Amino acid sequence: MASSMILCVLLCFISAAANPISCPNLNSAANYAVIAASTVTNTGFTIINGDMAISPSIALTGFYPDGKINGKTQLGNGVALQAQKDVCTAYNDLAGATPTGQMTGVDLSGKTLTPGVYKFDSTAAIGIAAGVLTLDGCGVYIFQIGSALSTADNSQIQLINGAKAGCVFWQVGSSVTLGQNSLCQGNILAYASVVFSGGVTLNGSACARTAAVTFISDTVNPQPICDCC
Ligand SMILES: *[C@@H]1O[C@H](CO)[C@@H](O)[C@H](O)[C@H]1NC(C)=O
Repeated sequence: MASSMILCVLLCFISAAANPISCPNLNSAANYAVIAASTVTNTGFTIINGDMAISPSIALTGFYPDGKINGKTQLGNGVALQAQKDVCTAYNDLAGATPTGQMTGVDLSGKTLTPGVYKFDSTAAIGIAAGVLTLDGCGVYIFQIGSALSTADNSQIQLINGAKAGCVFWQVGSSVTLGQNSLCQGNILAYASVVFSGGVTLNGSACARTAAVTFISDTVNPQPICDCC
């Protein structure tokens, strides 16, 4: 009796350990720092340390002379279209993951989260100026957000104990606004637009499925996707 209980506990433990939350397959979309649909616009000294794709539009403005794209740009071609298709597939996979935590109405400021799938039925925010969200431990973090995501000015996402930005995914049902001088981490897959308010650092990537990505003197550092534990 005791030994069969121990066996059961062991089996449960093994099956839990063998089924971590899986990382979405971004396919070709994993190669980009920025993917947009309608336009990418910039004001000021933005630095994009990776590749960019725009599809179906070709509108890329404001990077000359001050901004820098340290990578290739794919504008309105078949490669960019494929990147958008791959964002769409990954977005749907993320939206379909089974939630492990219901977070509707909870402000992320001051919270510490371990790997999991966190669901917000409507908006999500790091809503307090200079608020800090801490992600603790290696593994996959998925945020399923029904409508908008916003982060406050000077807010930060901190990664501790092996958490990696390339393993963090923000699936956002409408648009994203990143506050001034904030630090965001992870891969943003937004249905509509992604707005960088100025002086933002994003360690990860920004993908806008149907609208624009806009910058004001920001920095994007893409990270190895799904190189987790
Ligand atoms: C952001 O990424 C860059 C380059 O990939 C790295 O040097 C820097 O330490 C990262 N910043 C944080 C806060 O993790």
